[in-house]
Amino acid sequence: MIEKDFNTQAFESRSQCCDPQTQIETRDLTLSYKGKPAFKNINLTINRGCITAVVGPSGCGKTSFLNCLNRLSDLMPHCEVSGEVLFDSKNIHEKKYDVGLLRRRVGMIFQKPNPFPLSIKKNLLFPLKEHGVRDPKEAEAIMEQVLMHVGLWNEVKDRLDAAALSLSGGQQQRLCIARALALKPEVLLMDEPCSALDPISGSKVEGLITQLQGAYTIVIVTHNLAQAKRIANFAALFWFQEEAGVLVEQGTALQIFDSSKNEITRAYIQGVRG
Ligand SMILES: Nc1ncnc2c1ncn2[C@@H]1O[C@H](COP(=O)(O)OP(=O)(O)OP(=O)(O)O)[C@@H](O)[C@H]1O
Ligand SMILES: [Mg+2]
Repeated sequence: MIEKDFNTQAFESRSQCCDPQTQIETRDLTLSYKGKPAFKNINLTINRGCITAVVGPSGCGKTSFLNCLNRLSDLMPHCEVSGEVLFDSKNIHEKKYDVGLLRRRVGMIFQKPNPFPLSIKKNLLFPLKEHGVRDPKEAEAIMEQVLMHVGLWNEVKDRLDAAALSLSGGQQQRLCIARALALKPEVLLMDEPCSALDPISGSKVEGLITQLQGAYTIVIVTHNLAQAKRIANFAALFWFQEEAGVLVEQGTALQIFDSSKNEITRAYIQGVRG
């Protein structure tokens, strides 16, 4: 018998190691812009402490779906959402649901790094202050901790007052992840977080995402199937049906990327369609 290589073994064990406990569940989630559905009837389960990759062709509603999970979609003009998003079994669309707290618990990382046009230090201290951390010593300690966590501390500790926009793209993206982590989120939504970066910076960010697994629930949208296969525990494939995104299949990364019985999934994974 041919021995499985290390990567295959790691992939299989990662796909099985998670103790799947639901943290977010969507039920018949549908989002429309000006009455036209971007995606329809999505029933997806996202497990606590795991990395779930959402993949699918351009325009099938992946970004719009992420935006629903922390109600950023509320801020989009002409955008209507129906169905349910249950976060820790509570419906986030209920009238009394605290949206500010939701956005603190469910942080977002965008494709293009978006640091504030402020110093590196203020990128972290400013949101901490906004969220009620008034003691400067405590805020500075959190700042140092999260910069270490994302592997940026040694690179920036001597230039904390420099403009965040003077950092490289990859450093800016790690700073944005640090900024999200400073607010102690439980979930991180990541929309193609490496696709605007050069390969080396992208692989650093990818390594960081892998390290965050377990401590955070991560939902990552990526067009890079090799990346999804490298890092995800679970995966979901969105596709088009009547010009709107639908969920074709969800399962462990192993089921989706290596042993799917669904024709669309197989064709997409093999690069034949999409
Ligand atoms: N703010 C908006 N107003 C109107 N239509 C929108 C808006 N945002 C997205 N759409 C439309 O909704 C559909 C889904 O878009 P979305 O950006 O969610 O897809 P996606 O899967 O993330 O695509 P990509 O892989 O290219 O990023 C597309 O038809 C898009 O044109
Ligand atoms: Mg998108």
